[in-house]
Amino acid sequence: MATRTKQAIPAVADVPRHVAIIMDGNGRWARRRLMPRVAGHRKGVEALRGVIRACAERGVSHLTVFAFSSENWRRPQEEVTLLMELFMRALENEVARLHENGIRFRVIGNLAGFSERIQALIRDAEALTRDNTRLVFTVAANYGGRWDIVQAVRELIAEGATADGVDEAALARHLCMADAPEPDLFIRTGGEQRISNFLMWQLAYTELYFTDALWPDFNAAALDKAIASYRTRERRFGRTSEQVRSAL
Ligand code: IPE
Ligand code: IPE
Ligand code: MG
Repeated sequence: MATRTKQAIPAVADVPRHVAIIMDGNGRWARRRLMPRVAGHRKGVEALRGVIRACAERGVSHLTVFAFSSENWRRPQEEVTLLMELFMRALENEVARLHENGIRFRVIGNLAGFSERIQALIRDAEALTRDNTRLVFTVAANYGGRWDIVQAVRELIAEGATADGVDEAALARHLCMADAPEPDLFIRTGGEQRISNFLMWQLAYTELYFTDALWPDFNAAALDKAIASYRTRERRFGRTSEQVRSAL
C-alpha cells in the first residue's frame, strides 16, 4: 500500500526544501538586557532578515515562520498592540527588498483578525511578489494548526464532499500550505520543546530541531548548525532502516 505522506524519501544530503521555524525567545532576550519585550521583537525582525537571506543563498525553496499564533492574543494588550505596529512597519519597509531579491511573500492565518490596513498591506505584498520563484517566504500570523485543519474541513463540506470523498489528500488540498512541500526541517529557538499549535498536519514527518538560542541571536551560522543536524538524520517514513539503506 502506498503511503500518503511523501512516498519518495527526500535525501537528507540535500539542503532541506522547506524549513519551518518557531521564532521564540524575543521577550527573554530583551529581559536579560533589562529592555522592554518589544525591543526583543524588534531585534527578532533583524534576525529574520538574515535568516531569509541565508535560506535563499543555501537554496532552500520554502521558509515558513511563526510570527503570531492564534493564542498570542492572550498576551497583555500593550504587547499585542506593539506587535501589530511592528508587523505593519515590517510590511511597509521590508516587502520591496524581498521583491528585489526574487522572494515570494505569503501570509497564512486568519487574516480577518487584523486591521484593514494590515490586511491591505498583506494583499498588496502578495500580489507584488506572486511571480517570484527564488524562495517562497511564508509568515504564519494569527495562525493555528488546529484552525487550519478546521477551515479545511469547512471548505470540504462547503464544496459538497461526502464522507467517502474525504481522505488525506482531499483535506490537504484545502490546508493553507497546500501548494508547498511538507517541511523537511522544523526549528524552534528559545529552548522550549513543543509545537505550540504551529503546522500540526504538515509536521507529521518533519525532522525536529530545538535550540536554546534565543531568536534575536539566531543567524546564518546557527541555521547551518540546524541543517548539519538535519543531514545526520535518517528519514524513514515508517520503513525500516534496512529498507531505507538498500533504496539508496
Ligand atoms: C516569540 O518570542 C515572538 C512571539 C511569540 C510574538 P516571545 O515573545 O514568545 O519570547 P519569550 O518566549 O517570552 O522569550
Ligand atoms: C509560539 O511562541 C508562537 C510564536 C513564536 C509566534 P509562544 O512563545 O507564544 O509559545 P508558548 O506559549 O511558549 O507555547
Ligand atoms: Mg515565547
